[in-house]
Amino acid sequence: MNIAIIGLGYVGLPLCLQFARSGVRVLGLDTDANKVSALNAGRSYIKHIPAGEIKKLVRAGKLSASTDFEQIKSVGAVLICVPTPLKKNRAPDLSFVLNTGKSIAPHLRRGQLVVLESTTYPGTTENELRAVLERGSGLKAGRDFHLAFSPEREDPGNPRSKVADIPKVIGGYTPACLAAAKKVYGQAIRTLVPVDNCRTAEAAKLLENVFRGVNIALVNELKGVYAALDIDVWEVIAAAKTKPFGFMPFYPGPGLGGHCIPIDPFYLAWKARQVGQETRFVELAGEINRAMPEKVVARLAMALASQKKKLRGARVLLLGLAYKANVEDDRESPSYRLLDLLAARGADVAYHDPHVPVIKPTRDHPHWAGTKSVKWNRPTISSFDAVLISIAHDAVNYQQIADWSPLIVDTRNVMAKCKAAPGKVWKA
Ligand SMILES: NC(=O)c1ccc[n+]([C@@H]2O[C@H](COP(=O)([O-])OP(=O)(O)OC[C@H]3O[C@@H](n4cnc5c(N)ncnc54)[C@H](O)[C@@H]3O)[C@@H](O)[C@H]2O)c1
Repeated sequence: MNIAIIGLGYVGLPLCLQFARSGVRVLGLDTDANKVSALNAGRSYIKHIPAGEIKKLVRAGKLSASTDFEQIKSVGAVLICVPTPLKKNRAPDLSFVLNTGKSIAPHLRRGQLVVLESTTYPGTTENELRAVLERGSGLKAGRDFHLAFSPEREDPGNPRSKVADIPKVIGGYTPACLAAAKKVYGQAIRTLVPVDNCRTAEAAKLLENVFRGVNIALVNELKGVYAALDIDVWEVIAAAKTKPFGFMPFYPGPGLGGHCIPIDPFYLAWKARQVGQETRFVELAGEINRAMPEKVVARLAMALASQKKKLRGARVLLLGLAYKANVEDDRESPSYRLLDLLAARGADVAYHDPHVPVIKPTRDHPHWAGTKSVKWNRPTISSFDAVLISIAHDAVNYQQIADWSPLIVDTRNVMAKCKAAPGKVWKA
């Protein structure tokens, strides 16, 4: 069977590769013609995905890409991996999912399977997406075509995370839809986790992400509490995680980033409101996590004051622009909030990130577009009054910062491994 995967981003591309390497012929569809031509030419546009395998699979005829949705006619299954962002008022923006549904519908045939993978609130697949597909095709889900939801569990930048080995939760609109989805995913994924319906699968994904958001908020809060008690939260977590049961470590940081954890919980919060329910954990975790950049900047001001310097006018180097270590993805990165806050307080800011050589234009931070990562050498780094470590990429030599910089504010505890003069490193 051939399959089509719509949305060739951080989730869709690894999924394409996994199906293709399992022997399934994959058609990648995207509205972005640059991605399509890159794939057909065997090039990668995601740093942690090497071009070599793309090239091999394209040459072997297992993988091709297109912007032409009519080609959906020739596949047995269509998997949707398009963005699900939030609007400015934190309401879900389903426009990408629904537009994709509209593009699929005219080409949908009897017997085909459509699976939504994008994270969303419970009910999206069997209500909103189903309506668009049925309206545009004249066919009925569960009778004429199969419909399912199976959430993506991609961990970008983690070399041990392999799509084939990550268990895949699947919910079908009907038992026959589930059976069809299991048959498709069974070709490429080792462990399938069938659940009762699409809603349950959608809810499972949200639980996973709410769990992270809430636990990160907890350690972010404890960081402040323990600091006030002269206790190092990092040492506390290292000690607590030796417990062989009932504990799982989460780590504090400068705030949440990425396309999932800062966003997905609010899909649930929105849906909960529709049914008269509250999501106080989600809201509280959001508040705590969103307040982190302010706290980090306050700590930086205190660290500068210890050296008789003011934040206003200080030259500050932000180290790490991506939202997590060892990736180039800067979506929702708290580093942007830090840059904005520092600039607003009159600091002279610059950044260094080995994975983000220049800031691309974005809808949320257009004013930083074109700013370049500063060079990594002693005269440049030592010319800053302080280095603020936001993300701890492995590609950075932290001992050099300890040697070169007069002051370091570390939100990741990465300087713990380095030798630095007393008073130089401030944890934040
Ligand atoms: N990035 C992650 O680590 C991750 C992990 C788990 C789940 N998810 C979820 O997966 C979904 C996709 O996220 P992503 O990170 O891959 O996004 P992405 O922005 O990297 O990729 C989405 C792709 O969809 C394309 N696209 C947008 N509208 C389209 C349309 N109408 N038709 C065809 N293509 C279209 C875009 O051009 C882009 O290439 C989201 O719901 C996200 O929450 C992401």
